[in-house]
This record gives sequence, structure tokens and C-alpha cells, in this order.
Amino acid sequence: MPIRYNAPDIINDPAWMLFHDEVKRIKSDKGMLILAHNYQSADILEVADITGDSLELAIRAQQATEEIIVVCGVRFMAETAKLLNPDKKVLIPRDDAGCPLADQLTPEMIREAKARYPGAPFVIYVNSTAACKAESDITCTSSNAEEIVRSLPDDLVLFGPDSNLAAFVQRQIPEKKIISVPDGGNCPIHNAITRTAIEEAQMIGGYIVCHPECTPEVSIAADAVVSTGKMKAVIADQKICHVFTETSMLYLLQKAWPDKILYGVDGAVCKDMQKTRAESLLDCITQEISEITIDELHAPRARSAIEKMLALQ
Ligand code: 13P
Repeated sequence: MPIRYNAPDIINDPAWMLFHDEVKRIKSDKGMLILAHNYQSADILEVADITGDSLELAIRAQQATEEIIVVCGVRFMAETAKLLNPDKKVLIPRDDAGCPLADQLTPEMIREAKARYPGAPFVIYVNSTAACKAESDITCTSSNAEEIVRSLPDDLVLFGPDSNLAAFVQRQIPEKKIISVPDGGNCPIHNAITRTAIEEAQMIGGYIVCHPECTPEVSIAADAVVSTGKMKAVIADQKICHVFTETSMLYLLQKAWPDKILYGVDGAVCKDMQKTRAESLLDCITQEISEITIDELHAPRARSAIEKMLALQ
């Protein structure tokens, strides 16, 4: 059943206030920039310098002047920040915060697909490893996937690892043929949101916004299909909204729009995103642990794939 969202009053919690003051002191002493993905918990979002979706965080990482960048999110986000800042220290509070979607694509799969479709470009979703990005032509995020695929002159485009995002882009650009690699790659959290969730939301009424990692049966039925960074704007004129993505997203939406009635999807929780807690962030910034390193075998080509995407923004 849809869950009516009730935002935690984190900034008035005395324990959070102490945490906040400690983080603020350490980050200003050390000259750190803290980036947090929209799926982080409220306590982390409220101490970050910048919150955003994958694209917004990559753009902000590229512009960073601080010597140490801390990425509260999952590993591929921190790797993106490191690739864009090879001479800076990039830290992740939990180095075991992975992405099950990223794990579904290997460099071999990309090489095989390229051998099967000679000349076809490989567009890689940023939810992927640096080794896979190194085999690809250009990265994309959920925010710009359509734009990136349109920017290519080719009629046939290889796309991975998210087949739901590939199908969404395919519907926007029917004149091109998009081939998913691997066939059926998905984010288990978004993929588990079913048509029943749509029907239950429709019974309550209101506007349905979903992430493009949702299955076609969900995204075709939704009112808007956008990245987490664009959700705030698309619900601007709505009163009751159903938000089909990781539940933590609702905190920033409710903060932006306190009068709206927001519903989340029961159980839509990314365990990897939620590994970052106040203690792990404090340990990370105090001891400067969990530094991201990228194999030099992959780094230059992976960086080039990200930079090509950012040049189009
Ligand atoms: P966004 O870039 O839309 O925030 O999506 C990131 C993500 O990992 C979704 O599962």
C-alpha cells in the first residue's frame, strides 16, 4: 500500500545538532566539500553542502575548489567525483556502498556487444564501474539519457546496464534502435515497483511521478518520468503526489513543498544508499578513511566518457 510520508524533524533533534556542529567544524578546518545524493537519509542531507541527483553531483564535483571531496552516496558516484578530480582526495563514508545495477554489467559484455554491432556507440549509465565506463563512448544519467542518445549521429545505440531506462529512452526516440546490454539489467528497488502500486495510487488519487529506472508498465502509466533532481519541479502544481523511487527522496520534496501530501512506495529502500549514517560520515571525515582510487588502466578512458557527457550540459 502507498505510505503517506511523514518527514522527520531532524534539524530540531539535539543529537543531530551536535552531529551537525561537529561536521561543520571538521569540514571547515580541513577544507572539505560534502556532496550527498538525494537518496541519503535526512540527517546526512541536512549536513551536506550540496544535494542532488547523479548529474548535479557530477557537475558540482567537476567545479570543486576544495581539496577533499566527500561523497555520501554509492561507490559509482564517488568514482565519478574522483575521475573528475584525479589530484584531489575523494572519500566515501562506506566503501561497501555499492550498486546492484552497476554489478550487472562487465567490460566483457560491452566488448562483446561492440563486436556484434561494429561501429555502434555504447552509452553507459553512470551507475556502472570505472572499468565499464572505460569501454564505453559516453556516459549518461537518468536526467540526460534521452539528450545524450539524441546527440549521437548513429541510428543504432548500445545502452547499459539499465534496460528500463533504455526502454524509456527508446520510447522517446522511436527513430533510433536502442539495444540493452545486458538484456534485462535493472535496479532491484525500482524494478520491484509494480502495476499494483500504480493502481493503489490511482485509488487514492493524485499525481504519479516515477524514476525512469521503473519498469515500462509503471513508467507508461505515470504522469511524469524524471530523475530525482527533476522531481521537485514536476510536482510544483500538484497537491497530492505519489513518488515512485527510493523513499528517502521524499524528505527533500516535502521540505521544498511542506503543504503537499506525499506518498512513497512501501519497501522502496536502497540498502546501499542507507549504509551511510552519522557515525560513518564522522569517522570518514575525522580519519580521512575510505579514499577512492581508480585503476590507471581505466581512469583516462572512463574520465573521457564522463567529460564528453558533461560537455553537452
Ligand atoms: P538520479 O541520478 O536520478 O538521482 O538516480 C540515481 C540512481 O541511482 C537511481 O537509482
